[in-house]
Amino acid sequence: MYSIFLGAPGAGKGTQATAIAQKLNLAHIASGDLFRQALKRGTGLGRQAKNYIEKGELVPNEIATHMVLERMSAPDSEKGTVLDGFPRNLEQAKALDKALARKSLEIDNVISIKVSEEELQKRLGGRRICHRCQTVYNIVESPPHVEGKCDKCEGKLYQRPDDTAETIKKRLEIYFEHTAPLIDYYRRKGKLIEVDGEETVDEVTRRTVAALNERWLIAR
Ligand code: AP5
Repeated sequence: MYSIFLGAPGAGKGTQATAIAQKLNLAHIASGDLFRQALKRGTGLGRQAKNYIEKGELVPNEIATHMVLERMSAPDSEKGTVLDGFPRNLEQAKALDKALARKSLEIDNVISIKVSEEELQKRLGGRRICHRCQTVYNIVESPPHVEGKCDKCEGKLYQRPDDTAETIKKRLEIYFEHTAPLIDYYRRKGKLIEVDGEETVDEVTRRTVAALNERWLIAR
């Protein structure tokens, strides 16, 4: 099964894609995480992406598409993939369709997570991540037991450099201009599942699984 999580920055794509990939035993490919890993390792890809990410702009299509398609060619992707953060615009979506079609595959479903702009601002401003195990917290909604420390591995929590007020504003602008039109693109293809992202994390997961099961039964 090939699924895409679509949503504005902070909608919960990463949170839900992680949960669904675990439940369904699929590979989880997050373009933002791939860029951040490359940045941390100081690779050429990381250096190319750095300026764009820090400004909240999209990394050029050819770089992002090449990186994701290459990652999708790894063996763990063969049984299916949950994509998070890719595609981000029409050009990337078409490149993905083409690459899958070459293997006689296609995207099965696209889960669009809807969250109000006010809630997005709250979530991004409060997000903290464990530098060791990457667990995501929100210091207002789901704080760790000990301030600044991960509950799971006691790693130090950090704030993403692109989670500043100015960069969040830019990322939201880019989302509405370039990524939101993909909702209609996939709706027209009959792939779209819309989920209310303002429920609790577990409830959003439950509704997503229920919608995927329903589609699966209809498709059989
Ligand atoms: P990326 O890493 O993809 O960032 P993003 O799209 O801005 O999304 P986020 O990771 O901020 O949010 P999310 O929706 O995953 O939410 P999360 O689950 O973390 O991209 C970063 C940058 O990389 C881009 O700006 C761009 O420069 C570049 N890039 C990436 N992909 C690219 C591409 N394809 N092409 C070109 N450039 C690309 O949750 C957020 C917070 O909310 C957390 O604190 C979480 O705990 C909390 N939360 C989640 N769900 C709930 C809930 N239901 N209730 C309460 N709180 C919740």
